[in-house]
Amino acid sequence: MPRYGVLTSGGDAPGMNAAIRSVIRCGIDRGFEMYGIYRGYEGLLEGDIKRMYGEDVADIMQRGGTILKTARSQEFTTDEGLDKAVNIIETFDLDGLVVIGGDGSLHGALALANRGIAVVGLPGTIDNDLGYTDFTIGFDTAVNTVIRGISSIRDTSSSHERTTIIQVMGRGCGDIALYSAVAGGAERVLIPEIPVDIDDVCKKIIIDANNGKTHSIIVVAEGAEIKGPELVEVIKSRTMKESRMVVLSYLQRGGSPTLRDRLLATRCGARAIEVLANYTGPKAIGEIGGQIIGVDLEEALRQKREVDLDLYNLVEVLSK
Ligand code: F6P
Repeated sequence: MPRYGVLTSGGDAPGMNAAIRSVIRCGIDRGFEMYGIYRGYEGLLEGDIKRMYGEDVADIMQRGGTILKTARSQEFTTDEGLDKAVNIIETFDLDGLVVIGGDGSLHGALALANRGIAVVGLPGTIDNDLGYTDFTIGFDTAVNTVIRGISSIRDTSSSHERTTIIQVMGRGCGDIALYSAVAGGAERVLIPEIPVDIDDVCKKIIIDANNGKTHSIIVVAEGAEIKGPELVEVIKSRTMKESRMVVLSYLQRGGSPTLRDRLLATRCGARAIEVLANYTGPKAIGEIGGQIIGVDLEEALRQKREVDLDLYNLVEVLSK
């Protein structure tokens, strides 16, 4: 009977548990022996691996985080670490792995594939920074959390007639900022992909104020060229308006996954088992145009994510 392991790696993302549940239960349904690998690649290197049954993944669909825990392993990125990982996989007699994580985690999976291990990668990250898939598991929940935050912050921003800078996560990708700026009705969005002039940002606040706007919300991606604290100071000095900054931070990573994330995770998990059952090479699972896809892992990781310019331009148009 084939034996497969599943691990979560990198930053946790809402929906990872739904993906684990789907991988374990679909694997068992196929007659496979399924194993949970704890604490990502770090746990793999330590052989922290346990057989999992259907009941081990009961009642986890609605929970954020990951029951398998997660980590960012330095050792795994070295040649010695990779050799050790292959040894452990062979010692545990695993026929392949499902890796749930972001860009770094999927590159780790590719490194294992290059050493002859059967792997399938699932896009588990709030950042939405993988080019081969429209959406990553956790992104929808994170953006919903951000827009709830914007709604609350808007009340205070409006009452005090302030400019409020809301800094969101995303590493080098501006999608969390962009989508939440559109859905949260922000006046401006600053993302890493599109540099903006700080003078322009201040000018717009002054023009908006002259047109009767008493407050503004600016969503800034953590990877944007202009950083939140700098922006607050420049706005205060150039517009003479009160300005505050809110860093939403790990609030964005937790919480119960939305319908979209639960469905994406569940469908990707099921496809991962299909791919392992008919293995022809390493694959990345994702979603394009609402359809679940399985594409060559190396090819998938080469694809650069393009920023949605229409969405970006809409922020400007709708904030007038
Ligand atoms: O990749 C997810 C993410 O939350 C990024 O948006 C952020 O830059 C990073 O992880 C934070 O990582 P850590 O958990 O190490 O603080």
